[in-house]
Amino acid sequence: MANLNQNTEREQWGSKIGFILAASGSAVGLGNLWKFPYMAGKNGGGAFVLVYFIILFLVGFTLMLAEITLGRHTQLNAIGAYKKISKKWAWVGGLGVLAGFIILSYYSVVGGWVINYIIKSFSGALQVSDAEVLGGMFGNLIGGTWEPIIYHAIFMIMTMTIVIGGIGGGIEKSSKILMPGLFIMIVIVAIRAMTLPGAVEGIKYLLIPNFSAITIGVVLDALGQVFFSLSLGMGCMITYGSYLSKDTNIPESSTVIPLIDTGVALLAGLIVLPAVFAFGYEPSAGPGLLFITLPAVFAQMPFGTLFAILFFFLILFAALSSSISLLEVCVAYVVDEWKVKRAVAVSGIGLAMFVIGIFASLSNGPLSNITIIGGRNIFDSLDFVASNILLPLGGLLLCIVVGWVWGTDKAIKEATNDGKIGFSLAPFWSILVKYVGPVAITIVFIRSLI
Ligand code: TRP
Repeated sequence: MANLNQNTEREQWGSKIGFILAASGSAVGLGNLWKFPYMAGKNGGGAFVLVYFIILFLVGFTLMLAEITLGRHTQLNAIGAYKKISKKWAWVGGLGVLAGFIILSYYSVVGGWVINYIIKSFSGALQVSDAEVLGGMFGNLIGGTWEPIIYHAIFMIMTMTIVIGGIGGGIEKSSKILMPGLFIMIVIVAIRAMTLPGAVEGIKYLLIPNFSAITIGVVLDALGQVFFSLSLGMGCMITYGSYLSKDTNIPESSTVIPLIDTGVALLAGLIVLPAVFAFGYEPSAGPGLLFITLPAVFAQMPFGTLFAILFFFLILFAALSSSISLLEVCVAYVVDEWKVKRAVAVSGIGLAMFVIGIFASLSNGPLSNITIIGGRNIFDSLDFVASNILLPLGGLLLCIVVGWVWGTDKAIKEATNDGKIGFSLAPFWSILVKYVGPVAITIVFIRSLI
């Protein structure tokens, strides 16, 4: 991975696989492992997955290619990239920076829960398969006052430390070991979960759509989840794409990254939902689903404690390789445009995110009676504003800027390295960026307002 830290000569990714891993590292995170299973559980299982897939194909791949192409063309941060295409549109990058700011503030709270579960798994405290006990344990953690805030602080400090030091050698090298490690572990655990007695109901719940469960709320959640999971709509892939060399195959990368991301999300779903049915939980139980079902599955496995420790470590790593990309989008902007020192920018932004995150954390406990948007507590409101409003809005504006302001001809020229590589779907992609993406996002927005 290139050193995002330097400001003299702009560096590039070490290798093609280095970019794919770093971009997948950004995409694969708590969104896949924690959020996807509970979103699916909450939104009728198969109905959600079906809508997710449709949006992934129509909007996900399309915008992934658009963001990476825009980034490589301009070789700039999110705001700088829009500004270079047209001064009038620089604010779109600004919306992205705001989204990143909001997301990391509560993302870090969840990252903190993961750290706490690593410690719990070392102590053997998780070796129980009783639904009540595990649910109670999770509720105690997130409903507490100080404990979750302390872990939230630890996660934020870890993220800040990596970003201050530059994400150079460390992350690219470790990604090469840890990402495949995550994949292998998740397959093993999924096999165990799917073979639990009673698990078949969970597999069916996740994979067989019940069409009557598809409501506008489900579609809006799926749209938000595609953006969140693929790290789209806030300039994150613009920033990562800006470190690409001119000979990378963008159409290929934009296909591989979403495939990896979706594969991990589905596997996470195939761990959590079968376990939900096997142990008799409610699929709609919400954000605790991963933290309650995983320990129950581990308790049913040989070397369960060891698996728990390793697995929660891998989740932490996946979360960190995403959180650094969120922080980097904000930091890159402040460093470039306000000419602030990197360490100062990271400290200031990190501290502010930490403070907002405190409220998100408390809203699962002492502040749970405060509701902001549609009965949602602070935590869920932040997620709703960022994932379901700011990211899709950022995606809509990205379509307009790339499709109409910059123009798909120029974009395709960049994406195909001046016609040197094949991109047979280019005409289809143009239609998706110019018409399908903007229209689909607008319709979902308008419908969900009514
Ligand atoms: N995609 C990450 C996840 O699934 C989170 C993330 C990282 C993100 N960068 C982003 C989400 C940019 C939206 C935009 O956990």
